Amino acid sequence: MRHLMSPMDFSVEELEKLMDLAGDIEKNPEKYAHACAGKKLATLFYEPSTRTRLSHEAAMLNLGGSIMGFSSADSSSASKGESVSDTIRTISCYADICAMRHPKEGAPMVACRHSSIPVINAGDGGHQHPTQTLTDLLTIRSLKGHLGNMTIGLCGDLKFGRTVHSLIHALVRYPGIRFVMISPEELRLPGYIRSDVLDKKNVPYEEVVRLEDALPNLDLLYMTRVQKERFFNEEDYVRMKDFYILDAKKMELAPKDMYVLHPLPRVNEISVDVDSDPRAAYFRQMQYGVYIRMALILTLLEINV
Ligand code: NCD
Repeated sequence: MRHLMSPMDFSVEELEKLMDLAGDIEKNPEKYAHACAGKKLATLFYEPSTRTRLSHEAAMLNLGGSIMGFSSADSSSASKGESVSDTIRTISCYADICAMRHPKEGAPMVACRHSSIPVINAGDGGHQHPTQTLTDLLTIRSLKGHLGNMTIGLCGDLKFGRTVHSLIHALVRYPGIRFVMISPEELRLPGYIRSDVLDKKNVPYEEVVRLEDALPNLDLLYMTRVQKERFFNEEDYVRMKDFYILDAKKMELAPKDMYVLHPLPRVNEISVDVDSDPRAAYFRQMQYGVYIRMALILTLLEINV
């Protein structure tokens, strides 16, 4: 049985297959409409979510399966003190596959050790968010036609942003990837990712503070929200939260084919006047999230259509 804890759980070849399957699902949705008939997905969300939870649910419903779950720790027995390992033993009796989001790094990993059904990590603290990365890879491949040979700007909260951490892990496996890390000094990418991932693989990157300096040289800009819930004090968050605001004026500095991605939710970091720019790809990105999660559910349940 297979789980998804990190984007590295799939080889580059397996990812290609997964994205090809997502592409076929997009083109022929009716072919897959009953593929999961009789199967149940449980969503175990101990942290807030809109897209990740509902897109997993939409994915299962589109496949003809059913859904169950909880959307906050308060409404589950976690509030009575139940452990993740006991909860997953329970869910294993009710569902065929589950997606778990948890504020503690490693909680889905604990779950998969006690689970008899596939577990999908839907975000664990500031650590990883592999299904967002699958979404991002499919989006980039669809927009650019390929995944290697590009300069990618990662902007915002690179310290706590789990989407960025997972995306870096996944992208360094493609040739010709260069990164420009754009963040305030206090929200720099953690040292362990710089040393264990970037330096180890000799991936070229630079770190800058000003977004304007980076924009002219990027093929892709990945914006992120400052992760309010991971700050130890409100004051630091308030100081950081509007550090970057991408607006139509700044977009004039960017190349004509530089797409803007964002895992969403956005707060102020992308002004609404960018939404109508043809390079704004963050709403399209959400739609790709449903196709890739459909492909993921089929793959983990080993259902061939
Ligand atoms: C991200 C997350 O939860 O890490 N959202 C998402 O799943 N699309 C990004 C964020 O919350 O900033």
